Amino acid sequence: MLKRRILKKIYTSKGPDETKDIGYRLGKMLKPGDVVGLYGELGSGKTTMVKGIARALGIEEKEVMSASFTIITEYDSNPPFSHIDLYRIEKDFELDEVGFWEHIGGSGISVIEWAEKAERMAPEDMIKVRLKSIGEEIREITIEDENEKSRDNL
Ligand SMILES: Nc1ncnc2c1ncn2[C@@H]1O[C@H](COP(=O)(O)OP(=O)(O)O)[C@@H](O)[C@H]1O
Ligand SMILES: [Mg+2]
Repeated sequence: MLKRRILKKIYTSKGPDETKDIGYRLGKMLKPGDVVGLYGELGSGKTTMVKGIARALGIEEKEVMSASFTIITEYDSNPPFSHIDLYRIEKDFELDEVGFWEHIGGSGISVIEWAEKAERMAPEDMIKVRLKSIGEEIREITIEDENEKSRDNL
């Protein structure tokens, strides 16, 4: 039987800056080819967390926006970073139309907001981040990583 390591960490964030820091720490551990799926309702802090991940890759936070109309933004970092926001996607085939697959599993790093919309097609080893609002400024953030590659410092 395939041996899998499942790492799960639960954080409590008390404000946007803490969420960015959690993103930053995750971003520092990412390797080329990694895909991060962000789950959570509108306003739970997905884009805020992406800003922290992006900063870890040398991208300025203010360049990262709620990209609901853009769907995919690729940054010219090393490795290349793609911010994908599936908010407006309604059907699986639309993922093909927007070029989703060109940003997944190559040598870049990608993060997907509204990952629930790509759930059935997402790579098996996608790192899952679930954000939940439990107060005006409090968020519970769960990071789950089933990768066989080691990532002990999660
Ligand atoms: N602990 C927190 N973490 C993240 N965002 C927070 C937090 N507390 C308050 N907020 C606010 O919640 C909103 C989150 O927005 P955003 O990151 O765009 O969410 P999403 O992308 O999930 O829709 C922002 O206005 C942010 O200032
Ligand atoms: Mg967002």
